[in-house]
Amino acid sequence: MATSSSLSSFPSYALLPLVLLVLVSSSCFICATALSLSDHKPNTNPAGFTMRLIHRDSPESPFYDPKLTDAEKNEKRNRLTRRRPNDVRIPADYRLFEYVVSFSVGTPPVDTYAAMDTATDITWIQCRPCDNCFTQERGVPIFDPRKSSSYVKYGCMDPMCRGDYGLTCDRNGTFCSYHRRYYSDEQSQGIFSSDKFGFLIQDNYRRRRAKISVRLPFGCGHNNSVPGLPADAEEIPGVFGLNKEPLSSINQLGYKRFSHCFIPKGRRQTSLLRLGEDAIITNETTPMVEFGNETLPDYYVSLKGISVGETRLNIPQDTFKTSRYGLRGVYIDTGSTGTELARGAFDIFLEELVKQIKLKREYVSNFDLCYEIRGDRDMEDNMPEITFHFTGLDYVVQRWNGWARVAIDNDFVCLMFRRAIGDLTIIGNHQLQDVNVGYDLENKLISLQNRNCRLVD
Ligand SMILES: *[C@@H]1O[C@H](CO)[C@@H](O)[C@H](O)[C@H]1NC(C)=O
Ligand SMILES: *[C@@H]1O[C@H](CO)[C@@H](O)[C@H](O)[C@H]1NC(C)=O
Ligand SMILES: *[C@@H]1O[C@H](CO)[C@@H](O)[C@H](O)[C@H]1NC(C)=O
Ligand SMILES: *[C@@H]1O[C@H](CO)[C@@H](O)[C@H](O)[C@H]1NC(C)=O
Repeated sequence: MATSSSLSSFPSYALLPLVLLVLVSSSCFICATALSLSDHKPNTNPAGFTMRLIHRDSPESPFYDPKLTDAEKNEKRNRLTRRRPNDVRIPADYRLFEYVVSFSVGTPPVDTYAAMDTATDITWIQCRPCDNCFTQERGVPIFDPRKSSSYVKYGCMDPMCRGDYGLTCDRNGTFCSYHRRYYSDEQSQGIFSSDKFGFLIQDNYRRRRAKISVRLPFGCGHNNSVPGLPADAEEIPGVFGLNKEPLSSINQLGYKRFSHCFIPKGRRQTSLLRLGEDAIITNETTPMVEFGNETLPDYYVSLKGISVGETRLNIPQDTFKTSRYGLRGVYIDTGSTGTELARGAFDIFLEELVKQIKLKREYVSNFDLCYEIRGDRDMEDNMPEITFHFTGLDYVVQRWNGWARVAIDNDFVCLMFRRAIGDLTIIGNHQLQDVNVGYDLENKLISLQNRNCRLVD
């Protein structure tokens, strides 16, 4: 998700030392073996680890409901989709087909999960007591820090409680508070805190699943809202922040690299988020972009142009250029579903697609471009290749990442790109399925490689 609040630039990273503890847990969210990290690698600070991104409809999920049929799941999604009636143009609203990180928090540990978001800094979850909380999904309990013996609030005078980190003193001048607001008007505010997080990891060294426990700063959200959410809708309990800023969990965990490879959403299999040495950074890279000497909060890249089939679109030169505070430009946002193209590019893009595609055009509300197809063959034969020309990397969008079936009975496919409200271009998670995306923060590179994510292990 895109945050709209923290627009300041950060002069330097302040990394907390990574504190890893051996987890002693009686509960287990998929009954993994508790792993002592001293068994794992010779040092206590693992050079890397791999987290399992458990799809919430997967049997591995602690919140899996085997009684729900696929049709009911789709129906539930469709219900959730309508929560922003004036705004939603892609059925998969950013929360819906979200990739989430599962973890436990506190002592004793409470299982929960949060949307994996490369465009947020602070990881936050809803906390009791609630001044304001939205309904969480399927009875996942709202975390109550009063019941956790390892929970700590940051004080107002703590060196971490910095204004340039987007933190402030609370009204009483006692505790450190955060407030994050998203472009969708969703917001969370509460106390900047820390507690033990237990992550389920893929331990390839031992070829088993395990859990590790890490003390991690996070936002304990006592006042959270998602405007326009229908009364019966349920939401993901929080956001797992992975952007470039100092408070993001990637920096707080002390890693300089990570990668993800999202298994396509329909498959309900577990994707992996790889941190540190486990990250896969391929050689198809494009530089991370900043604005002059100002460090931007998110993973901006330099997009030079777009091709549809063999035609390079005639998009004005500066359409994708970054500007001050990153108010314009192109960035990768795993917390958004579809891709939004800057206004100046979208219309040209749409026009070229219409010109090249010879299928029967259909009109579906909330979508800009839909066609009737009679099977996958129609897709292959008729849909032109879409290529993003990044600096140093021509990246071909896989066909099913550009389009999605919108109805089960009718063979309609619709374009999964939409016109941005402003000049920002946001590459969302729909376009990143079956793509290995690597983030190398040290060398300031992003790698993108199409591959079958089920085969990456
Ligand atoms: C919760 O946050 C909203 C939005 O910032 C604010 O208007 C409201 O006063 C807050 N409520 C409480 C109880 O702090
Ligand atoms: C702030 O101070 C008021 C009045 O002393 C008190 O009622 C309230 O609980 C305090 N809030 C916090 C968060 O400490
Ligand atoms: C990346 O590496 C592979 C082999 O490791 C090589 O075949 C390929 O040409 C390289 N691609 C680029 C863009 O350097
Ligand atoms: C950043 O660039 C501006 C304008 O070019 C300059 O005035 C400023 O001193 C630079 N700041 C740093 C920290 O280099």
